Amino acid sequence: MSRIHQRGADGSVADPTAHDHEVRGMFSRISGVYDFMNHAMSFDRDRVWRRNLVRRLDADTGALLDLCAGTGDLALAALRADRVRIAFAADFCVDMMSAGRRKGLIERVPALGADAQRLPLRDACVDAVTVGFGVRNWASLRLGLEECARVLRPGGQLLVLDFFRDDPGASGESRGKPAPLHWWLDRAVPAAGRLLGRDRAAYAYLTESMERFVTPDGFVALLSEMGFADTLVERQTMGIAHLVGGRLA
Ligand SMILES: C[S@@+](CC[C@H](N)C(=O)[O-])C[C@H]1O[C@@H](n2cnc3c(N)ncnc32)[C@H](O)[C@@H]1O
Repeated sequence: MSRIHQRGADGSVADPTAHDHEVRGMFSRISGVYDFMNHAMSFDRDRVWRRNLVRRLDADTGALLDLCAGTGDLALAALRADRVRIAFAADFCVDMMSAGRRKGLIERVPALGADAQRLPLRDACVDAVTVGFGVRNWASLRLGLEECARVLRPGGQLLVLDFFRDDPGASGESRGKPAPLHWWLDRAVPAAGRLLGRDRAAYAYLTESMERFVTPDGFVALLSEMGFADTLVERQTMGIAHLVGGRLA
């Protein structure tokens, strides 16, 4: 992995500008194949994981902000399930959002080109924030979560889906993946990225960034520290991904 993405003890990268520039460029490169690769490499489980997240949203959710929205699958799933009155999308890679246009992103979900760590939004303006496979890419997890807390109204929900670092000591819902799945992520995913997506580096980044990320329990500990209550961890498909979240106290 490029040194640009390596994280220090506090979980932040040393050069956030270079990191963000690389991440944006990488998603821009794969924007045309992103959806296809996602569904193919997860055997369509990614759709189930997003639906599980949507089911956790309060039934009367008014305004939802989907950060790192990419091609819009999470925001569109929330609208389809009739779980939210209105959904907004934000992402700092315009090419990803453009690729979502054919599915209704922009037309059905107003989209904003913005960095999740510096949102051009006023305080307490949304009822829920969701992030699907985005937080692992933030240069500073703390900065991004502070922004989530700032734009959420008190009592609002933050729900996050991502691939977390396995915690060998964890039990219950925090448990990680069995060993054969490590082989799948370490070997098969980058190889498939090279063959089908023509970008091995982008798919190697996926697994490497996961190994350098926090554990599910580490993530919810940070949420508690930042004023979130009712935190949850829910294992998805043998611990490949986790759904984590909380409610702003
Ligand atoms: C793996 S994709 C996830 C897309 C979508 N949420 C999904 O569920 O498929 C990650 C997205 O996060 C965006 N992203 C990464 N860091 C970001 C940041 N700091 N601010 C805004 N968007 C960011 C990338 O541009 C990319 O579109």
